[in-house]
Amino acid sequence: MTKEINKEELLVQQEYIEKVKAINAKREQMPLAHVHSFGCQQNVSDGEKIKGMLAQMGYGFTPETAFADLILFNTCAVRENAEDRVFGNIGALKKLKEKNRNLIIAVGGCMVQQEHIAQRMKKSFPQVDIIFGTHVMHTLPQMIYEKLSENRRTLSIPESDGVIAEGLPVIRESKVKASVPIMYGCNNFCTYCIVPYVRGRERSREMSAIVAEAEALRDSGVKEIMLLGQNVNSYGKGLQTPVTFAQLLKALDDVGIPRIRFMTSHPKDASFKLIDTIAAQPKICKHLHLPVQCGSDRLLVQMNRHYTVEHYLELIEYARKKVPGITFSSDIIVGFPGETEEDFQKTLELVQKVGYMQLFTFIYSKRTGTKAADMPDPTPRKEKTDRMTRLLKVQDDIAMALVKAQVGQTVRVLVEGYGRNEGTLSGRLDNNLTVEFKADPALMGSYAMVRLTGARATVLLGELVES
Ligand code: 5AD
Ligand code: SF4
Repeated sequence: MTKEINKEELLVQQEYIEKVKAINAKREQMPLAHVHSFGCQQNVSDGEKIKGMLAQMGYGFTPETAFADLILFNTCAVRENAEDRVFGNIGALKKLKEKNRNLIIAVGGCMVQQEHIAQRMKKSFPQVDIIFGTHVMHTLPQMIYEKLSENRRTLSIPESDGVIAEGLPVIRESKVKASVPIMYGCNNFCTYCIVPYVRGRERSREMSAIVAEAEALRDSGVKEIMLLGQNVNSYGKGLQTPVTFAQLLKALDDVGIPRIRFMTSHPKDASFKLIDTIAAQPKICKHLHLPVQCGSDRLLVQMNRHYTVEHYLELIEYARKKVPGITFSSDIIVGFPGETEEDFQKTLELVQKVGYMQLFTFIYSKRTGTKAADMPDPTPRKEKTDRMTRLLKVQDDIAMALVKAQVGQTVRVLVEGYGRNEGTLSGRLDNNLTVEFKADPALMGSYAMVRLTGARATVLLGELVES
């Protein structure tokens, strides 16, 4: 069941937006907000909505905490080091708060949705004014108003299976590319992962709302959309009129944005049909992010992943056959509780067999409340970091060889930014690789044809082909 926040509730927040705006309008200078989102693209997407609401409340933005009237951290809970960084950053804000008693500090997102963290934050960091969880982001205007008008400190982390707030304003990072969440939450309960506990149950946005957002993006000139969800292959389950991810892709194809990407596909649900869809629809990028986590069937059971290495490789082989030139990327966890050298060797073997263009690698991080947190974990840290070093070496060699193999082709590139070398622009290929080439900055945001001439590590180098 989709729990969409009703219009009345959003209208109440709209009133708070107006009240904060009125307060801010009385200031001599426009107040500035510093917003930083940690973690995944979903969190960055939430951060764009937070910025949208702040802009409506009359805030401008600054990359410097020192100039900010409001500092907001949108946090991630997936690994401990991300949490440590947030605690460190907030500790450092104490001095700013002493200098400026009117500075508002807010901390939201996955990390503080965990009760033990929120309580620690409240007790040990009195400089934090607003602590808000993942299910109440849309009430930020009210929390800010109550702080400004009554100096009230808020801690709001209600338990919930999750909600969907449609129609929040958005300030996007890029004019060329846009992230579009299609679903929220996760039902998979992989034993190492905190996400299902902090982001609630899996729920999909209505297809009509997603298509309307895509149409608006197309009209504003966006050239590429990235569809976001923890498990996009189960998109549409539980909607009043259930639809499939393939149907959504078809509808988005018709909107006419030149490029469509998506992430993440769970290997247990990624189907041969999905691969057929990628093959049949040219706007869908020839790149599949298919997180395998490890190459040992024994550990995949312990992780509660519900697929085998054999099935995973079948998917990869099918994709290679049906979509020539497709590239793969993956997430790997090294040092899951009980991982032996033999298990790790199987991961290395799999990585070599698939030949990933890109790997996101993580040393296992124990998350309070998950099943894996109670599993015996005898492997010393040193052994885990050593395995990680070996994995990275194997992957570096694979990626370099794959990138070099692209040289000589002429490819279509979406120009996204400036390259590292003077006078160059940087763009992305259909298969997610990046290329740098000399060109007029006027090409920014458009497509260009580029001949690939070489590579610097895993970045391709090329020459513009005049059309
Ligand atoms: N420790 C290490 N990595 C983790 N991930 C999720 N939870 C953990 C954890 N406890 C990784 C997985 C997932 C990615 C988003 O983060 O690889 O796919
Ligand atoms: Fe975590 Fe597994 Fe859900 Fe991904 S699919 S968010 S790893 S529980």
